[in-house]
Amino acid sequence: MDARAILAKKRDGGTLDAAELTWFAHGLSDGRVSDAQAGAFAMAVLLNGLSDAERGALTRAMRDSGRVLRWSLPGPVLDKHSTGGIGDTVSLILAPALAACGAYVPMISGRGLGHTGGTLDKMEAIPGYAPDIPAERLQAVVADVGCAIVGASDDVAPADRRLYAVRDVTATVETIDLIVPSILSKKLAAGLAGLVLDVKVGSGAFLPGEDQANALARALVSGAVAAGCPCCALITDMDQPLATAAGNALEVHAAVEILAGGTGEARLAEVSRALGGALLALHGIAPDAEAGAATIAKAIASGRAAERFEAMVTALGGPADIVAQAGRHLPRAPVVRDVVPARRGIVTAIDGRALGMAVVRLGGGRRVETDRIDPAVGLDRLARIGDAVDSQHPLARVHAADTSTAGAAAAAVRGAYRVADAPAEAPPAIRGRVG
Ligand code: URA
Repeated sequence: MDARAILAKKRDGGTLDAAELTWFAHGLSDGRVSDAQAGAFAMAVLLNGLSDAERGALTRAMRDSGRVLRWSLPGPVLDKHSTGGIGDTVSLILAPALAACGAYVPMISGRGLGHTGGTLDKMEAIPGYAPDIPAERLQAVVADVGCAIVGASDDVAPADRRLYAVRDVTATVETIDLIVPSILSKKLAAGLAGLVLDVKVGSGAFLPGEDQANALARALVSGAVAAGCPCCALITDMDQPLATAAGNALEVHAAVEILAGGTGEARLAEVSRALGGALLALHGIAPDAEAGAATIAKAIASGRAAERFEAMVTALGGPADIVAQAGRHLPRAPVVRDVVPARRGIVTAIDGRALGMAVVRLGGGRRVETDRIDPAVGLDRLARIGDAVDSQHPLARVHAADTSTAGAAAAAVRGAYRVADAPAEAPPAIRGRVG
């Protein structure tokens, strides 16, 4: 087979068969497919779509581009994955919280994608943390600690590792036909007994509309279930950032604040509990999602989740006291300044994508594959929908490498917020469920 023939077929609106998709996925992992060809494939799929059969075949082919893990552990192997958002640092809270509840969590995560932050980039903001490990080491850390947040490796879902990096910089993220194989190939390769998905809806989501989010949730849940993995999805709000921070080290601070028992990030804590509760109920560890959420809340309040987080960070090369001493370990940007609104009033809407792009332009995300992330930059103290803002109550605080990027980010933040005189109510954090 030849990549050019496969690309031409999809470019011209044809249907690829399982053999062609398997050849392409394996070519991504063994290098027979170049980056240019991977980008052309992603664009052809985004423009011309995949049938359900093609999407299923691509998912299986990407899963089988590496090993499928098998486990023999005293508790269930569970996981959560998000379709991507701003200030979405749930994984850092939920992986250790689930481990504290007796589950085992091999969380194969991604880097920043498009305007959204990536869990791996956040974890790498912790000095020394090394998430790129072989499958044997992943299995050993999960068995020992209960959770490990790692990247797709040469052994597990390597095709997604390549395609994901190419999609990030080729404007080819926003399609169900690539999001579903990307997420499910990693998760199915991890050999899970249960999966909860966090499908984002709203201005900061890849697929912002309600109908799109519902369709994505249905495609993900049915794809996982068809492959033998029990799965449900919550549809959660991304009409505003989930945490009050966006940027790698700043989001680690937000997660650590919850793990340390803080109450300043109520929305992030609520979504973390709801997702964890749904997963515990899905697997029968809790009688229902509400009881499951209470179990997660207890794991956090007792400090057991923080203790699992520190054990995971230590096992993967980071400092032993990251929760207790986050301020000492996490990098800080040299320029920090408030962003005051152009007028006083109430925040009525937030363009999440514009905020995410402001973080990318500060250096918190990539514009080409080889870009190095600046983990310290980003935004925090983000005002929420319904908040009153004025010169004393800013929209946000910018953390930047220099004054010129700080100025540009401040302008982008002002452009992302709509401020008016009328009161405004934020949409609920949890907006629906599938499965
Ligand atoms: N998360 C992934 O792993 N892949 C996507 O395409 C989007 C979110």
